[in-house]
Amino acid sequence: MESKWLAMVLVVLSLGSGLCDGCLEEERFALFQLKPFFEFIDYKFQDLDYGSKPEKESSSNCCEWERVECYPISGRVTHLFLNYYGYNEMHWYLNASLFLPFEELQNLSLSWNSIAGCVANQGFERLSSKLDKLENLDLSENHFNNSILASLSELSSLKSLNLAGNVLTRSNPTNGIEMLSKLNNLETLDLSFNRLGNKILSQLDDFACLKSLDLGYCGLKGTLDIQGMFPF
Ligand SMILES: *[C@@H]1O[C@H](CO)[C@@H](O)[C@H](O)[C@H]1NC(C)=O
Ligand SMILES: *[C@@H]1O[C@H](CO)[C@@H](O)[C@H](O)[C@H]1NC(C)=O
Ligand SMILES: *[C@@H]1O[C@H](CO)[C@@H](O)[C@H](O)[C@H]1NC(C)=O
Repeated sequence: MESKWLAMVLVVLSLGSGLCDGCLEEERFALFQLKPFFEFIDYKFQDLDYGSKPEKESSSNCCEWERVECYPISGRVTHLFLNYYGYNEMHWYLNASLFLPFEELQNLSLSWNSIAGCVANQGFERLSSKLDKLENLDLSENHFNNSILASLSELSSLKSLNLAGNVLTRSNPTNGIEMLSKLNNLETLDLSFNRLGNKILSQLDDFACLKSLDLGYCGLKGTLDIQGMFPF
């Protein structure tokens, strides 16, 4: 009996020491793959603004980094806060496949990064089969245009999508906002600070689950008859 106890204690201890190592090797590797594009990934959040000297994370356990959150038991990454809040004149293209290893990811924030789109064949659609827990995607304050919408429309697990402050325009029939109505679970959509105009209103009919829609500063004009306009 006692030896059984001892064995259990040993198992618990070894699990515990595994926890100290934190994030999975493959996810740690994936974070360093992201570093060329998000160089601040292993730097502390609050030290990044206004020219203060950023401080590097001291822990080798990436789950302890401010920009990363993990499940405590499995050590798998659930949240990535890659918002930049700096100023970058250079527009660049993202390879969304770099996020494929993060299979338990729920929140991904990429705001304020000057991203202009995705590299060819490496758009967000790549994530649709593997990242089926991704619920909240923040792409605000980048330089995405309508060509990103088709790839986003494949992320069926999304509940909240923030596209504020991009360069979405009044759409033509092939890549309009209505593409996002494929997202059956989408509850919150922020389209503020884009260049949409009134035409956007006729494209909102098919959004079945939306509870919150922000169209602030989108160039809407005139008086709107809201009654009966939306299914929500
Ligand atoms: C995008 O990232 C994936 C995964 O790391 C890699 O296999 C692929 O070669 C990359 N493609 C481009 C164009 O960078
Ligand atoms: C939209 O972005 C794509 C890259 O994602 C680019 O190739 C295209 O030229 C842009 N379209 C416009 C109208 O700016
Ligand atoms: C994840 O995103 C949602 C929606 O934007 C937000 O309410 C929630 O606070 C985020 N979680 C964390 C840990 O930031």
